[in-house]
Amino acid sequence: MIVGVPREIYPGERRVALVPAVIPNLKKAGIDVVIEAGAGLAAGYPDKDYAEKGARLIGKREEVFTTADIIAQFLVHGANDKSGQADLPLLKKGQVLVGFLRPLGNLKTLQELAERQVSAFSVELMPRTTRAQSMDALSSMATICGYKAVLLAADTLPRMFPMLTTAAGTIAPARVLIIGAGVAGLQAIATVRRLGGVASAYDMRPAAKEQVHSLGGRFLELPIEAKDAQDARGYGTAQDESFYAKQRELLGNTIAESDVVITAAVIPGKKSPVLVTKEMVQRMAAGSVIVDLAAERGGNCELTRPDETAVVDGVTIIGEYNLAGAVPYHASQMYARNVTAFLLHLVKEGKVNLNLQDEIIRETLVTHGGDVVSARVREFFSLPALQPAPAGGGA
Ligand SMILES: NC(=O)c1ccc[n+]([C@@H]2O[C@H](COP(=O)([O-])OP(=O)(O)OC[C@H]3O[C@@H](n4cnc5c(N)ncnc54)[C@H](O)[C@@H]3O)[C@@H](O)[C@H]2O)c1
Repeated sequence: MIVGVPREIYPGERRVALVPAVIPNLKKAGIDVVIEAGAGLAAGYPDKDYAEKGARLIGKREEVFTTADIIAQFLVHGANDKSGQADLPLLKKGQVLVGFLRPLGNLKTLQELAERQVSAFSVELMPRTTRAQSMDALSSMATICGYKAVLLAADTLPRMFPMLTTAAGTIAPARVLIIGAGVAGLQAIATVRRLGGVASAYDMRPAAKEQVHSLGGRFLELPIEAKDAQDARGYGTAQDESFYAKQRELLGNTIAESDVVITAAVIPGKKSPVLVTKEMVQRMAAGSVIVDLAAERGGNCELTRPDETAVVDGVTIIGEYNLAGAVPYHASQMYARNVTAFLLHLVKEGKVNLNLQDEIIRETLVTHGGDVVSARVREFFSLPALQPAPAGGGA
């Protein structure tokens, strides 16, 4: 069994799907690694490190695809909406593909993968269970995004984060509000605290309160209750516009008093709710910073510009998309561990075991045998349900 790692081709992407440290673990399970030469360089993993751990380097990208039984990537066609298409002709029938597919994004890209007769697994669809925790790439990337968002804000803010008592007077700590206390939001709280800022956070899921407190953050209580705030998978649910209008009204004063606002309130497969309006930004002090981690999904701030930084009335609004990609060394390390855990689960006795009785395999498999097979994806795009497939069997 050979897993191939091509160089990422999304413009500016520096991450790599596997790092040298995971290669021995894969080899122990009978999985050899081939990697496109130079694939890890921008993340801080030179070719020689891969070779030392036993990977075979291949100069030609096409050859990685022809050699491998399994392709491990970060941004697959769909998630790579700029250049991902170029890989389609390289995929071969029966090949397994693992990566970010953006499975609730565009049905066409999934159908194009299906037409290539590949078994494509989407890491975004990983179930949120204890068993799958080590394979949860979304949480890995969210962790990095939350961290990096705070660093960007601190670097942009014309103030310091910590409280200082100096001979030149006392400096007040930065007040940071985090909206959406999921994995990214929680890591943002922890990072604000490490820098000495004061972190407050709000989430519509009541369960978030305890987590915010455990990180030393203040929980902002709003006199408003979300309907079924959390779905069975642990994700926040979409609310109606009147709920969001009420939220905006209640959040207004706290936002105006914050030096930094980090928004991370996203709903899977949906446009993000606008929680910070133009008027609310106008009430913030000049020099304040908003980092909108929901930018790629439409943004939580009305003034966020897609993948750009805007300055409006002296307030900087950072809407850059790929913050995890800006920390490529650790993003690659975490992702490589997630992918490796998944591959060790998928490959049994040297063979790909598509056991659809297994929740992890069933939930993440998006295309197989020429069709889009994921029940969740089919339901999302209103495709008719497929007959349940027989369990077991190799790819
Ligand atoms: N294996 C596991 O059990 C596992 C893995 C990952 C995450 N989780 C948990 O799942 C939860 C969600 O994490 P996530 O990072 O995937 O979330 P996410 O990235 O999907 O969403 C971010 C947060 O925004 C919140 N949000 C959405 N709309 C909002 C609104 N209008 N107002 C305020 N907040 C809003 C959501 O409740 C969520 O907490 C967390 O509690 C996390 O700890 C569990």
